[in-house]
Amino acid sequence: MTILVTGGAGYIGSHTIIELIVAGHNVVVVDNLCNSSKISLERVERITSTQIPFFQADIRDKKALSDILDMYSIDACIHFAGLKAVGESTAYPYEYYDNNIIGTLNLISVLRKHNIKNIIFSSSATVYGEPATIPITEECPKGKCTNPYGWTKWMIEQMLMDLHTADPTFNIVILRYFNPIGAHQSGLIGENPNGVPNNLMPYITQVAVGKREYLHIFGNNYDTPDGTGVRDYIHVVDLARGHVKALEAINRNCGVAIYNLGTGKGYSVLEIVKAFESVNGMKIPYVIDPRRPGDIATCYSDPQKAQRELGWKADNGIEEMCRDSWNWQRRNPNGYEQ
Ligand code: NAD
Ligand code: UFG
Repeated sequence: MTILVTGGAGYIGSHTIIELIVAGHNVVVVDNLCNSSKISLERVERITSTQIPFFQADIRDKKALSDILDMYSIDACIHFAGLKAVGESTAYPYEYYDNNIIGTLNLISVLRKHNIKNIIFSSSATVYGEPATIPITEECPKGKCTNPYGWTKWMIEQMLMDLHTADPTFNIVILRYFNPIGAHQSGLIGENPNGVPNNLMPYITQVAVGKREYLHIFGNNYDTPDGTGVRDYIHVVDLARGHVKALEAINRNCGVAIYNLGTGKGYSVLEIVKAFESVNGMKIPYVIDPRRPGDIATCYSDPQKAQRELGWKADNGIEEMCRDSWNWQRRNPNGYEQ
């Protein structure tokens, strides 16, 4: 199949393109590079020995999207493009709704005009809010999000489902990611946050590489075994492979389907620090800070639906995640900046 990949220069998109190419698909990438570098795609070309058609364009630009779609016969779209920083979304809600919601509406409008009705969407475990049950199944009701970023995922999911209700010839797969970490084993591509990392693993690797003095652990008084927050970390390569499986579902005319992509196992912040230290043979100094507003105690998936229906499960464990995160950071201390 030929897949339009929006946001393909980003962290998850770049890893997914590799797996798509390995599975024999063609890709066309659209990214405005607002949170990524073209170098990631050059590295993907190196890893796959494949030239990747890339267009620097904003998904809010209908004309640009339409011109691209006129040039290719696209079978499906994997829609990664979006802004994703939780804290920033609270300070800039307009920008988040504009980019994520308007961007997605524009994209859908252009896809429809080109009769492309197969869409895979990057959603997030954040839509569950404070989860009603743990582990979280897809039947768990969507909750109240604590920030505009989360609401954009919540609303886009609804938009896509309504689209399918009105026109059942749409095939929509909504993938709710848990906490992606790790990097491609080559160490050539990985997560490249701008400024101070918001997420745990890139913060740890920046401490490890000497860019930051110590990790701030946000709270050790949660109702968890060691008091620190528990999350379902998933290797980004496993996550990427989940998209290939989702495409197979689309090929079977799946209609609308929602899947958790997680491992089903929760690790606390302290467990991640200890695993990173032991796998990579180094110390990660840390301090305990107050809780971060909006954080919940525990969040991990029940991933059985994806296993049952897609034949997908995560293969990599926490050791591989810690090893590959560090391999990427140590080889690229400044990310894609040379
Ligand atoms: P990323 O920022 O690395 O990738 C997103 C890409 O989209 C970037 O390359 C950015 O330049 C591009 N982009 C943003 N707005 C655009 C626009 N208007 N037009 C064109 N391109 C645009 O983020 P990621 O971690 O790879 O996340 C990919 C998707 O997965 C996002 O939708 C994100 O919300 C979602 N997600 C990520 C996580 C996570 O923890 N990383 C968790 C759940 C869901
Ligand atoms: N944490 C720290 N110190 C840090 C960063 C994080 O202690 O510097 C803790 C958090 O308090 C939390 C855990 O590490 O307990 C994980 O935090 P992350 O910021 O890495 O991840 P979140 O679970 O908060 O959120 C991430 C993405 C969201 C996405 C969600 C899906 O940032 O976009 O996973 O589960 F929606």
